[in-house]
Amino acid sequence: MFQSKIAGTGMYVPANVFTNQDMMKFMDTSDEWIQERTGIKERHFAHRTDETTTTMGVEAAKIAIERAGITPQDIDFIVFATLSPDYYFPGCGVLLQRAMQMKEIGALDVRNQCSGFVYALSVADQFIKTGMYKNILVVGAEKHSFGLDFSTRGRNVSVIFGDGAGAVVLQPTEDAGRGILSTHLHSDGNNAEILAMYNPGTHANHWSKETKLADFNDGEMGDMFMSHAMIDNAQNFPNMDGPSVFKVAVEKFPQVIMEALKANGLDTSDLRLLIPHQANLRISQFVQKKLGLRDDQVHNNIQRYGNTTAASVPIALCEAWEQGKIKEGDLVCLAAFGSGFTWASALLRW
Ligand code: COA
Repeated sequence: MFQSKIAGTGMYVPANVFTNQDMMKFMDTSDEWIQERTGIKERHFAHRTDETTTTMGVEAAKIAIERAGITPQDIDFIVFATLSPDYYFPGCGVLLQRAMQMKEIGALDVRNQCSGFVYALSVADQFIKTGMYKNILVVGAEKHSFGLDFSTRGRNVSVIFGDGAGAVVLQPTEDAGRGILSTHLHSDGNNAEILAMYNPGTHANHWSKETKLADFNDGEMGDMFMSHAMIDNAQNFPNMDGPSVFKVAVEKFPQVIMEALKANGLDTSDLRLLIPHQANLRISQFVQKKLGLRDDQVHNNIQRYGNTTAASVPIALCEAWEQGKIKEGDLVCLAAFGSGFTWASALLRW
């Protein structure tokens, strides 16, 4: 059995910065409200036509691959996490494979929203451990700006999210005690609708066994997946009961971090850096306090990027590494919680 190590990290955010003041031009909100409740000052929004989730993922991947000292041709598997794919299908993994002119390798898409990257890393880790692959590209990327309700109606959701991408290259190491020490994955689908985007989807309530063939002939069939009525009723935007998400997040984050530390016989005092998914600064601060961590043990950057969902952990990891906060031998914990609910952690010895 091998261990996996992160051989290179990369990140990309679009050039366009969208401040809280910019947000105020579209909806009834304030810089004060957004900063006080979420910590966010600004986020980056992709270029409307030239940038997609895949193109941002490609930019982050190029940097991670170069830092790993390899070329796109050396990558032997792709795991791509996103909730905002370029197409409903196929997924972004194959689009990245095409864009980077990689070999005809496997490409897997992960749909686990905010914990998508940690899930993707865990999947890649298993392939490295068994010796099946030697250079796996793991990407988390999102283009939220195309799917949010920027009217006052959607303000509790729209002010939170931003666009961007992060990537890592995972390779085997025989250096015992280094690399990914463990990953822990969890889910509880009982609250699936609390933070969800229902449409387009196959859940349509009016679908029943009694649906008659005639319905298929008058345009109803196509309407079920995405109808004018859905758009008129704003059912094509994400839906979130923020206070309920907050309550579960502050419970599950500390649990899954402690689970990782305990599984390895370690404690919070051993942690050089906690990189939590950037859901909300208040959630990160709550977790930090609950675990008794110092300010220098937690990396937050939501102030500048907003919540970039599957991209937030790899962006924060890359940024922390670039800032010299992570050195060889340091213990780093990645942790995430989000829609599903799903939550996860990965403990690494750098
Ligand atoms: N600007 C101004 N006012 C806003 C607003 C905005 N962008 N969004 C909501 N409000 C208003 C609400 O309409 C409500 O007004 P009312 O009291 O007149 O009805 C008031 O602010 C309080 O709303 P509430 O939703 O209870 O606020 P909150 O203090 O819970 O903060 C969140 C809202 C979303 C910031 C907070 O619940 C949160 O961060 N939850 C976690 C969400 C999260 O992390 N999601 C990602 C998970 S990965």
